[in-house]
Amino acid sequence: MTILITGGAGYIGSHMVHELADRGELPIVIDDFSSGFEWAIPSGVSVFVEDIGDQRRVAHLIAKYGISEIIHFAGSVVVPESVAEPLRYYRNNTANTRSLLEIAIRSGVRRFILSSTAAVYGNPPANPVPEETPVAPLSPYGSSKFMAETMLRDAARAHGLRYVILRYFNVAGADPALRTGQATREATHLIKVAAETAVGLREKMQVFGTDYPTPDGTCIRDYIHVSDLVNAHYHALSYLRGGGESLTLNCGYGRGFSVLQVIEAMRRESGNDFPVELAARRPGDPAEIVASAERMRNLLAWRPQWDDLSLIVRHALAWERKLLAQGNATQRLATTALHPNSGDPPPRTVWVSRPRSSRVFRASQDASGTSKQA
Ligand SMILES: NC(=O)c1ccc[n+]([C@@H]2O[C@H](COP(=O)([O-])OP(=O)(O)OC[C@H]3O[C@@H](n4cnc5c(N)ncnc54)[C@H](O)[C@@H]3O)[C@@H](O)[C@H]2O)c1
Repeated sequence: MTILITGGAGYIGSHMVHELADRGELPIVIDDFSSGFEWAIPSGVSVFVEDIGDQRRVAHLIAKYGISEIIHFAGSVVVPESVAEPLRYYRNNTANTRSLLEIAIRSGVRRFILSSTAAVYGNPPANPVPEETPVAPLSPYGSSKFMAETMLRDAARAHGLRYVILRYFNVAGADPALRTGQATREATHLIKVAAETAVGLREKMQVFGTDYPTPDGTCIRDYIHVSDLVNAHYHALSYLRGGGESLTLNCGYGRGFSVLQVIEAMRRESGNDFPVELAARRPGDPAEIVASAERMRNLLAWRPQWDDLSLIVRHALAWERKLLAQGNATQRLATTALHPNSGDPPPRTVWVSRPRSSRVFRASQDASGTSKQA
């Protein structure tokens, strides 16, 4: 059974594609490469360079591959950017999810897993945060995701689709075998920024706010290893395949670390006592947000393997060092990533030290609606 993974060339989506391929499943990927990378996808997996908002193309692929399951990662993910460009976020995260859902339902898709976020909770009244906590997003990003959740719930109820909505807390780390990892441009994720600073890509890093009502005054977050997160998706898929009812679940470990604890872990793992600048609070950052993770453990029988901050940091650092050793391939790829809808001729994406072996299909080579191999 072929599974459609949207955003499968991105940070989390590419880990999911590896997990599925490792398990002998048959994923195919739709990704527009706006923030994802061709090299992140394992060899032999077909990638369609499409916008998920293109209903005609998405419908064609669902029909061609007989898709009945979708794991939907594609989206725009940078919170400050969503404040500056809210309508872009409502288009890509909300309107494009609506478009995908419409086609999925019309095409007979049975199971749907949606990437959502702890950002829907905003500044929660208490921690750990159970799923019943009323949502109160503080950013257009969080709102755009909650709207996607709402549409999925309503459409599923009306049309018999079953779903699992997964609300990720802070995702970090990299594939322990270093086949993929995070290469987000201008990342604001703490562990990624700390890893970049530890390997010398940044001169220093900043801590935003040291006067929060937490033991050391810095914000507390629940960091989940990306491999445990994608494993939770696999459990969610198995649960739906087994006939399970639709669910909304937090994805975290249920315990938090402060910004200073994370920096300390990165300094320790890297052996680099890199400079840290204490800065003012950023608007919209809750002091603390930690998942109540019981529901996922109980209902999905999910058991994390990498629940250890030092390990998460070590894997993030090893991945950053790999990127660096490959001559800053990420930076090069970042400037040559494909934008199929820009109107410009697509630049070639080149992975400097590893030949491309996934099967990539570009819409520009396929005016007829039948994909050709690139
Ligand atoms: N990284 C986190 O800490 C985090 C936390 C909570 C939720 N999430 C959610 O997880 C999902 C994946 O996030 P990520 O960190 O891997 O981000 P990412 O930017 O690395 O991945 C997103 C992928 O989607 C693709 N994409 C974006 N818009 C598209 C479109 N219209 N059509 C086709 N492809 C498109 C991008 O090219 C990219 O490959 C997102 O939905 C995000 O909201 C991430």
